[in-house]
Amino acid sequence: MKMIGKQHLASVLLCLQLYLPIGLAMNGDLLPLIINTWNFSMATSQTWQPLDAGAPAIDIVVQGCSACEELQCDGSVGYGNHPDDIGETTLDAMVMDGKTMQIGAVGDLRRVKDAISVARAVMNFSKHTLLVGESATKFAVAIGFKEESLSTNKSVEAFNEWKKNNCQPNFWKNVWPDPSKSCGPYKPSPGGVKMTPPTANQDISQENHDTIGMIAIDRMNNVAAGVSTNGLNHKVHGRVGDSPIPGAGGYADNDVGGAAATGDGDIMMRFLPSFFVVEQMRMGINPDDACTNAIKRIVRHYPDFSGAVVAATINGTYGAACHNANFVYNIQNPSMPQMMTVPVTCIS
Ligand SMILES: *[C@@H]1O[C@H](CO)[C@@H](O)[C@H](O)[C@H]1NC(C)=O
Ligand SMILES: *[C@@H]1O[C@H](CO)[C@@H](O)[C@H](O)[C@H]1NC(C)=O
Ligand SMILES: *[C@@H]1O[C@H](CO)[C@@H](O)[C@H](O)[C@H]1NC(C)=O
Ligand SMILES: *[C@@H]1O[C@H](CO)[C@@H](O)[C@H](O)[C@H]1NC(C)=O
Repeated sequence: MKMIGKQHLASVLLCLQLYLPIGLAMNGDLLPLIINTWNFSMATSQTWQPLDAGAPAIDIVVQGCSACEELQCDGSVGYGNHPDDIGETTLDAMVMDGKTMQIGAVGDLRRVKDAISVARAVMNFSKHTLLVGESATKFAVAIGFKEESLSTNKSVEAFNEWKKNNCQPNFWKNVWPDPSKSCGPYKPSPGGVKMTPPTANQDISQENHDTIGMIAIDRMNNVAAGVSTNGLNHKVHGRVGDSPIPGAGGYADNDVGGAAATGDGDIMMRFLPSFFVVEQMRMGINPDDACTNAIKRIVRHYPDFSGAVVAATINGTYGAACHNANFVYNIQNPSMPQMMTVPVTCIS
């Protein structure tokens, strides 16, 4: 008995010696990490090598979102798509540094293609967090960005088609003439404002809401979030979505991790889902459950809304949840020989 006991102890010790380094190595294999909404594979693949080589997380999310802006990912990021209701493409973007808790963001940015870089410039060259509209353009031009039209033949054609189709769909309500049948200009409806129960934007489709949201955790364990989009097709001119709103489109905190959201931004920003996910993870809730709880909170009020949240912790765990969407995300860490595209079963 004694001998067996000693042998047992010896083998336990041997196991410990063997397992400890392996255990540490496995933990090390989870970081650095990059995760982003949708299968925007260029954003993930272009940034993995520099991240793995030690580049700062904040540079990585800017680089990844910039890649999508240039490639006009799915027509939902960057110039030349999704004209608003006067035919202009406008951009929203944000970058957040989880080390310093600094944010730079732009909303309704006009005539400058590099939205996430302008967001970074807001962080670099001002003490502000969010600049919007024509004034954000002036700021960008002053800093040295190029001013140019964001329209393309495709966006001009899309706008003309939409006008021919009586400006359907659009996002007006309680106005006259009837916005479900006619173009504007609109006036408040003589019938007054109907307090109909809130509904999600009905015409959200996958092609209409593919914001890129990225979380990167670098080799120094710094966390950053980046988000960029051209917003909803045919949105009311001046509309700003959830992407540049801190805690809505994205959030990052070096103590915990980060989260980013995509979907029906008008609805989602009312719930600050990215902030909510990070705060749950801070309390020890795993990323999948934290994302599910954030989506469920929205579904409770808007049962038909479409959207998704992705998240990652500083321990290298990650997850996502979605509702009413064909959602996938891209992820890479050192344990993966290549980027993985992970389909998510949405909560019903
Ligand atoms: C993701 O995108 C890449 C590159 O376009 C493609 O090769 C791959 O099949 C896509 N994966 C999924 C699951 O859609
Ligand atoms: C902001 O500053 C960082 C750090 O110096 C730099 O790497 C980055 O290129 C700057 N970006 C912009 C848009 O100014
Ligand atoms: C855009 O439309 C103009 C005028 O119809 C045409 O001359 C031009 O070649 C088009 N550009 C592209 C890139 O298709
Ligand atoms: C990371 O792991 C540590 C040790 O297991 C744990 O205490 C902490 O809560 C984890 N942090 C997050 C954000 O999951």
